[in-house]
Amino acid sequence: MQTSKPRVLAEPFKIKMVEPLKVTTEAYRTEVLNKAHFNPFLLRADDVFIDLLTDSGTGAMSDRQWAGIMMGDESYAGAKSWEHLEAVVKDLTGMPYILPTHQGRAAERILYGILGGRGKVFISNTHFDTTRANIEFTGAMAIDVMPAEANDPELFLPFKGNIDLEKVEALIREKGRENIAAIIITVTNNSAGGQPVSMENVKALRKICDAQGLLLVIDGCRIAENSYFVKHREQGYEHKTYKEIAQEMLRLGDAFIMSAKKDGLVNIGGLLTLIDEALSLKCKNLLIISEGFTTYGGLAGRDMEALSIGLTEVFDADYLNYRIRSTAYLGEGLRSKGVPVVWPIGGHAVYIDAHKLYPNIPLEEYPGQVLVCDLYTKGGIRCVEVGSVMLGKQDEAGKLIPAANELVRLAIPRRVYTQSHIDYVLEVFDDILELRTQARGYKITYEPPFLRHFTARFDKIGEITTETQRA
Ligand code: F0G
Repeated sequence: MQTSKPRVLAEPFKIKMVEPLKVTTEAYRTEVLNKAHFNPFLLRADDVFIDLLTDSGTGAMSDRQWAGIMMGDESYAGAKSWEHLEAVVKDLTGMPYILPTHQGRAAERILYGILGGRGKVFISNTHFDTTRANIEFTGAMAIDVMPAEANDPELFLPFKGNIDLEKVEALIREKGRENIAAIIITVTNNSAGGQPVSMENVKALRKICDAQGLLLVIDGCRIAENSYFVKHREQGYEHKTYKEIAQEMLRLGDAFIMSAKKDGLVNIGGLLTLIDEALSLKCKNLLIISEGFTTYGGLAGRDMEALSIGLTEVFDADYLNYRIRSTAYLGEGLRSKGVPVVWPIGGHAVYIDAHKLYPNIPLEEYPGQVLVCDLYTKGGIRCVEVGSVMLGKQDEAGKLIPAANELVRLAIPRRVYTQSHIDYVLEVFDDILELRTQARGYKITYEPPFLRHFTARFDKIGEITTETQRA
């Protein structure tokens, strides 16, 4: 919708069904967070007011998608809903072989299980956690190659998610091209702040892959959001539609992996699409063994129906404009209050530099966890620490080797919260800023051997938070 002057960012949808949110007091939240051992993953969702833990599978479907749910064809083989999904995905990717999966990591397990193995190397701008885990599980190595300037949280670069092409070429020479299993470009680059990747960067990567005979995989669960940035930041794309931009980018890949829980606008679903027939046959075998028959993967007919509609709706210009601008609204609002955010704001989330926010909290006391806990206590807001709790390691003496950055991610579910919810989040940050010098750090009292952030337990340093209080 064109308006002559900038106006308030009114959501381009109206609300037909509501899901009540429980309003709680600070005293209640202090108590339940204590009982959850200061780990918001261990909270009951019902006790959360604004849930910014992830944008994955947390979006709201449209009335057309819900109507599609009722029209789902649950036939085991060759269902109509599968035909609808296959047609939409073929049109989007231009690839002939389409495999449905229950979510993104199932597609990763299948493809990287076949391509990986001991001695193999995968190169990416940044491997997402599950991508890395699926690769390393096969015995292969996953190497991230970002340009050095992308690590500067203050620096504005239009395509801060780009892969470093020179480093890619150097790595191929160093490891030997016969050992490179694939190059993976993640758009937008989730683990690097949801930053976009330019068409120019993917085109250049395609050239490298052609010259070396390497497979190029596009991990594009946020491909529509990436297309928004290409249209508005890259020369030559101003007049293309978002869908045309996505089509052009996906045609540069040999394979496309998608967690449909993001830009598929559904609560569950994934895709693996391929050009090579022989590779697709191997993948289909694994799909049948582990997910389901080739015309449903791990999905119900109704899920496929909703996904085929979601993949069309996500390219709507009014929707995408609202989506990207509403994420920026939160990020820019925080920045203007003096909250240190990763700049520029990416597509699906705002990342806050908790170490800068709490300079008085040492890294060993997890400043990211301090912010995550304070946001819950002050405002019932849930988000995730992406710092030394999630990514830190320990040396032989048990001393923390901190993560590269102490970030906290506020991920925005699609079409779920209104601007007044986001204004509320901004107001809660006034309290956070006011009280930051009094904030206290945390120590870990329990951690599992892997992926500790999900289940770790904490205690607040310098405060008596006893087991008796929790009981
Ligand atoms: N690739 C990327 C870039 C992702 O962001 C995710 C999931 C996956 C693959 C795996 O997909 O969850 O459907 O199995 N990201 C979620 C997040 C979990 O919170 O960022 P999945």
